[in-house]
Amino acid sequence: VSGLQDAVAAVVGASHVLADPGLKAGYEVDWTGRHRGEARFVVRPADTAEVAEVVRLCVREGVPIVPQGGRTSFVGGGVPRGGEVLVSLARLGGVEPVDEAAGQVTAGAGATLADVQAAARSAGLFFPLDFGARDAATVGGVLATNAGGNRAFRHGMARALVAGLEAVLPDGGVVSRLAGLPKDNAGYDLVQLLAGSEGTLGIITRARLRLTTHGASVATALIGLPSTAAAVELSTALQRRLPGLDAAELLYANGLELVCAHERLRPPLPHSHAVYLLAEAAAPEGALEALAEALDGLLPSPEHAVVADDTATRERLWRYREGHTEAVSARWTPLKLDVALPVAGLAAFVEELGRVLTAEAFLWGHAGDGNLHVNVVGLDREQEAGITRAVLELVAAHGGSIGAEHGIGIAKREWLHLTRGPDDLAAMRAVKAALDPAGLMNPGVLL
Ligand code: FAD
Ligand code: MLT
Ligand code: ZN
Repeated sequence: VSGLQDAVAAVVGASHVLADPGLKAGYEVDWTGRHRGEARFVVRPADTAEVAEVVRLCVREGVPIVPQGGRTSFVGGGVPRGGEVLVSLARLGGVEPVDEAAGQVTAGAGATLADVQAAARSAGLFFPLDFGARDAATVGGVLATNAGGNRAFRHGMARALVAGLEAVLPDGGVVSRLAGLPKDNAGYDLVQLLAGSEGTLGIITRARLRLTTHGASVATALIGLPSTAAAVELSTALQRRLPGLDAAELLYANGLELVCAHERLRPPLPHSHAVYLLAEAAAPEGALEALAEALDGLLPSPEHAVVADDTATRERLWRYREGHTEAVSARWTPLKLDVALPVAGLAAFVEELGRVLTAEAFLWGHAGDGNLHVNVVGLDREQEAGITRAVLELVAAHGGSIGAEHGIGIAKREWLHLTRGPDDLAAMRAVKAALDPAGLMNPGVLL
C-alpha cells in the first residue's frame, strides 16, 4: 500500500501528499477537539479530475477514504478514524462570477461560506445560508452535512439552496449537474441524494448555489421573556406579522451570562430574563419600524427589548447568540446534542428535558424551526452515554429528530434508529451498497 502514496503523489504532486505526522496532525482533529484519528496520509488534490484519480487509486488498493472540508462539523465525520486516506478539498476553492440571469453562482467545494456570501453581495444578491463558522465551513462541507443555521426557517437548509453539483462517486466516476436549470426532470435526483450524505456517497467537488434578494434595510431585536413557551409564541406571532422575518433564535440566561463573561460584553437589557428571542427582519426599507411595530403589544414593556438597525448594535446582538459555541467550548468539551422538535411541542420538550438533564447544560437554538442545541458539560464518557440516551429517547417520544442540522456522523450513528424505522434504514443501506459496494467512502459514518 506504500505504493499508493507514490501513485497518489504522481497525480497531485508530492508536495500535496502529507504523510509526516507533524504535517498531518492539523487535519486529524476536528473543531471541538473531541474527534480525532490517524490518517494513512493526507492528500490535497487541485481539481475534480485529480479527486477522481485519487479515488480510483484508493479503490484499486481497497483503502478507505475520508472527505474533509473545514473540519467544523460536530459529529466526527470529517476526521479519520484510523488508516484512511484523508482527501482535503481545501484547494478546490474559488467562486465563479455570479450568473445574474439565473440568480445562481458556482463555487468550488473548498470555497468558504463567507466566500459565497461575499460573491453574492458583490452582485447585489444574497446567499441566505449563514452560521457562526462561516469563515471556515466549506461549500462541500455544508452541502454534505445539509447545514441549516440562522435563516433556515425562512430560506431552507443547504439542500434547498443547491441547484446542482459535481461530484466524484465512490468508484471514481464523475457526475456533473451544474446547469442549474429550474426545470430538469431527467431521472433520479443525485444532487439531492448527495446533499446530506455526509461524504458517504461521494466527494462533492463543485456546487451551483441559489441566490436570492434581500432587503437593504435590516433590523435586529433581542427580547427578554419569562419562558420557552413565551419565546415560541412570540416567534410564531412575528412570523405571521412580519413577512420579512429572517431569524428567530433562542437563548437562555445561563448561556448569555457565559457569553458576556467570555467576550466581556455588557448584558443586553437592564434586567435579566429566563429566555431570550433574537429576531431579525429585512425589508427594502423601514425594517426597524416594521420590527418595532410587529413587537408592539407583544411585550410587557419596552424595557424587555432592544431593537436596532445600526451595524454595531446588530453585530453585538448577534454576538450574544453566536458566541455560545465558543464560550462553552473555551471552558469544556461539551456533549453536543442537536435535536429538532415540532415547533408547537418545543416548550413542553424543554420542560421535560429539565427533569432528564442531571448535569449543567446550556441550551440555545433556532426557535423558528424547533431546533434546539443541548450542550451538557462536566460529564465523564459513561455519564455522557446515559444522558445522550435519555435526551434522544425523549426527543423520539416527542416526535422529533435526533439529528437536526449537524448530521449523524460517528457521534449519533447508534441512535439513528430512534428517528428512522427499519425499512427506512434498509433503504438507506441499499443506496449506500449500490453506490459504494466496497464500503470505502467515509466508512463508519451515518450507517
Ligand atoms: P467538515 O467538518 O470538514 O466535514 C463535515 C462532513 O462533510 C464530514 O462527514 C465530511 O466527510 C463531509 N464532507 C466535507 N467536505 C465534503 C465534500 N467536499 N464532499 C463530500 N463530503 C464532504 N451547522 C449548522 O447546520 N448550523 C449552524 O448554525 C452551525 N453553526 C456552527 C457554528 C460554529 C462555531 C461551528 C464550529 C460549526 C457550526 N455548524 C453549524 C456546523 C456545520 O455543520 C459545519 O460548520 C459545516 O456544515 C461543515 O462544513 P466543513 O467544511 O467544516 O465540513
Ligand atoms: C449554533 O446554532 O450555534 C450552531 O449550530 C453551533 C452549535 O450548536 O454549537
Ligand atoms: Zn445551530
